[in-house]
Order: sequence, then C-alpha cells, then structure tokens
Amino acid sequence: MSQIVIHGQKKLVGDVSISGAKNAAVAIIPAAIIANDICVIENLPLIEDVTILAEAIKKIGAKCEFKDQHTLIIDSRNIHSCYADYDSIKKIRASYYLLGAMLGRFKKAEVAMPGGCNFGIRPIDQHIKGLEALGAKISIEHGIIKASAAKLIGTNIFLDVVSVGATINIMLAAVFAQGVTVIENAAKEPHVVDIANFLNMLGAKIKGAGTDVIRIFGVEKLHGAQYSIIPDQIEAGTYMIAAAITNGNVAVHNIIPKHMDSLSAKLREMNCKVEEGDDFIKVNASKKLKSVNVKTMTYPGFPTDLQPQMTALLSASSGVGIITETVWENRFQYISELKRLGANINVDNRIAIINGTQNLTGSQVCATDLRAGAALVIAGLAAKGKTQISNVKYIDRGYEQIEKKLNLLGADIKRVTE
Ligand code: EPU
Repeated sequence: MSQIVIHGQKKLVGDVSISGAKNAAVAIIPAAIIANDICVIENLPLIEDVTILAEAIKKIGAKCEFKDQHTLIIDSRNIHSCYADYDSIKKIRASYYLLGAMLGRFKKAEVAMPGGCNFGIRPIDQHIKGLEALGAKISIEHGIIKASAAKLIGTNIFLDVVSVGATINIMLAAVFAQGVTVIENAAKEPHVVDIANFLNMLGAKIKGAGTDVIRIFGVEKLHGAQYSIIPDQIEAGTYMIAAAITNGNVAVHNIIPKHMDSLSAKLREMNCKVEEGDDFIKVNASKKLKSVNVKTMTYPGFPTDLQPQMTALLSASSGVGIITETVWENRFQYISELKRLGANINVDNRIAIINGTQNLTGSQVCATDLRAGAALVIAGLAAKGKTQISNVKYIDRGYEQIEKKLNLLGADIKRVTE
C-alpha cells in the first residue's frame, strides 16, 4: 500500500511538461482495433488505465507492444474474440469503448459493464440508444453488455444529454455503417476531436467534431497510421491550480492553451497573472488570491474534472466561493477529506460553498477518486505540516509521475510504500 506524503507550504517554481490526454488515450487504444492493420500511438500517458486497456486488447488477440514508455504499437489483424471479460476491464470506465469499436468492426461485441471512478450513478443509456439506432440488438446479461447486428446503417441520433462517452462510442461504431450517421447534441471536448482526427487518419470520414453536430460518412475499409495524442487538459489544469495555491510561478509546457481558456479566465479573476504562449501557459500567483464562483459545464465550459482541484484552491483563497456541479450528480464526496485539512465547506446537493482560510493544516486523508486525489495533493501543497494521502491507486490512474513532476517544481512530496 502506497501513500503520498507532502510537507506543504513550498512555493512551486519552474517548468512542468504535460503528458498525453488520458481520456483520449483510453478511446484511441480501442479505436485502433477497428483498423485491422498496424497503428502506432504516440504520446500516451504512462498511467494505469493505458496499461489495463493494452492488456485487454491483447487478450482478444491484438498484438500490443510498447516501443517506449509512451509509444504503443497495436497490430489488430489477428483479433480472434469479440469478448472483453470482466477481469480485464472491471477497473476502468472507458472499457465501454471496446463495445463501439468491436461492434463497428465485427458487428458483434460482448463487454463487461464498466467500472471506474465511483462518484454516483454513471448510466450508459445514451450509448445504448445510439448503437441501437444504428441497428444493433443490445442486451445486458449478468453484467455483460451484448451487442450484435446483421449490419449497421447510418441514421440521425439526438443525444438526450451531452455525453463524451456516448458521442465517441457512436463514432466508433458508425465508421463502417452504411450511409451517413449524424450525432446531434454531441460532446465537443478536445478528446472527442482527437478521436475523430485519429479515425480520419485511418481513413474514416468524420466531419464536425468539436461542434455539436458530427457527421460520420460510412467507409468500407480503414488502414493503419501513426498518431500522436493531444496533451491532457486536466493534468495541465491541475498543475496550473497547484501553481496558484502555492503562490508560485510555473510554466506548464506541451499543452494547447486554448483548451485551458475556462480555467485561465478563472485564475485571472482570482488575481493570478496567466500568460499564454504557443504551447505553454505561465501562471504567476504572487498576489493574494480572491475567491470566485464556478459552475461546471461541458466543453468549452469549466470542466467537471477540474472541479475538485478548484475547490481545493478556493479553500485556501480569500473570501467565499461557490462551486456548482452540473455534470455529475454526486461529485462532492471528497469534501469530507478536504475538511480534515481544515477546509471550511458546506455542501447542499450540487452546490458547495467554500469559505477560504489561510489555515489549512496537514492530516491523514484518503483519495476517494482520481480528481479527488488530485485535489488532496493540491490542498496538501498549501497546508502547514505533513499531509498523508492514501488510496494513491486512484491518482495513478490519471497522473503520470505526479510526485516527480511536483518535486521538480520544488514541492516536498514523496511516495512511501508500507
Ligand atoms: N450520461 C447519461 N447517460 C449516458 C451517458 C452519460 O445520462 O448514457 C450523463 C452522466 O450521468 C453525466 C453526463 O451525462 O451526468 C456526462 O457524462 P459523460 O458520458 O460525458 O461522461 P463519461 O464519458 O462517462 C468522460 C470522462 C470523465 C468526465 C466526463 C465529463 C472518460 C473516460 N471519462 O466520462 O472523466 O468527467 O466525460 O467530461 O473520458 C476523469 O477523467 O476523472 C473523468 C471522470
């Protein structure tokens, strides 16, 4: 069992480099099996979810070899099974992309129901609605989703809620569907665009990704390609917030600054100096930080995946800040842990009211999910004394070498294995 141990109140200064996007990687690995050829995926983050998915597609017959820590070669020419079992994928939410990918290529897929971070009900009705609209028959038996179709035919699909997962899954299944598939009310997140770009590089014909109407013109064949994944918007935001909470001065490199607009605007409102370059953002937080209100939204709004980290920042700012969570119904579970560090927060349903304090103090806390873990790290960086964070496995699911990157910025953080 590992713990992260932080001795707080060290100003972060210097440069940090951002890894490839987790939520793009976990869709691009399943997408690669549609190619029936060799794909080289570059800039993969070195995180648990990637390793688990690589193992899962190996089990169904893909050849999968890491050329180096961040590059995976996937040869999907000899896939012999359309069944992704519970053991291979129980830990990750994104296992559902194997459903769309296998259904698209083989017209048949059996995938165990997804796992992943537990912060409330995480339905997949929109995925199922979309795949059924394309002509698939779907049943859920003993926790396994079974999908099959004689053929898939393009159609218009209007999503009832904006869902990243459903948008990507329908794109994956529709690549070979006859005619045109139109997804309306589609998610616009950067990783949705990244998956569309990847599929287009394989020979798919997808237009409109990044807007709320995506059109997929069915093709008959794909081919292999070499593709580099976009930088992780949420990892970048986590380091920007870490710089702010320590009154630091940090340049966050290898990012797409446009993806950070909603956070950059909030940090400026809080009194930080935020400067953008072509592929970096510098955050200088030398002035006293003042609290702001934040409402999570789908892209280009403020991302729910930065909500816990922002709550940590507001805990150490001056004044009262209000966070409204509109995407997930139960994403404030970590707040009881932040309170152990002295945060003054009241939660009412989807609203958290945060009274900023200068008195965060180290304690023993437990990560309840991935971004909750990141929020505890951020609070620990600002807290007086020693913070010990357990359940580090959650943090490892989404952050590559977090202690190393923070150490290089001057944090006193280490991993201790009991
Ligand atoms: N929803 C439905 N029905 C569906 C699908 C979603 O009602 O069929 C609802 C959800 O309950 C939620 C909202 O729609 O209220 C948005 O869910 P979405 O489908 O967009 O989420 P997801 O695809 O399951 C991805 C990320 C999450 C991120 C959300 C929102 C991956 C693997 N996960 O999840 O990332 O919070 O989009 O941006 O891409 C994380 O990285 O920590 C993380 C949780």
